[in-house]
Amino acid sequence: MAIRELRYLGDPVLREPAAPVDAFDDELRRLVDDMFQTMVYEEGAGLAAPQIGISRQVLVVDVSAGGEEGRVALVNPRIVESSNETEKEPEGCLSIPGVTEVVRRPARVRIEGFDPDGEPITVEAEGLFARALQHEVDHLEGVLFIDHLSALKRRMLLKKYRKLLAEEASG
Ligand code: NI
Repeated sequence: MAIRELRYLGDPVLREPAAPVDAFDDELRRLVDDMFQTMVYEEGAGLAAPQIGISRQVLVVDVSAGGEEGRVALVNPRIVESSNETEKEPEGCLSIPGVTEVVRRPARVRIEGFDPDGEPITVEAEGLFARALQHEVDHLEGVLFIDHLSALKRRMLLKKYRKLLAEEASG
């Protein structure tokens, strides 16, 4: 297992639609292991393969806090059902570190996909689990959470983000 290097806002790989996986092999399982390890190391609730520079439809989420519910690796996931009911909660992204903003999303989703061994799985999720999954599925389509914000809120967030980067660069 290895911790992989993160890609950040401005990297074109984050804006590419990821390609479906067609081989459920050892390389895929190694990728999934590395993604879980990288997510834990970076203290994220989820990670999508494009965030480590791999434009493939693979995501991991762990909001389980040590329990069983809320931890999953999904390959070629599709959201097949979304609730009309929505929730607004703050959201952030490992690829845009240091900034968060409230995003409205469906409260519950049903997602179909495959596990890393190629077995079809269906995930029913609500709350934080549903939010994290939707955020990661977005990544596989080249969509970032800032795309869900109003133009004004997005501008303010990006201004803050650039300021943080500048502060970091100047030490
Ligand atoms: Ni993200």
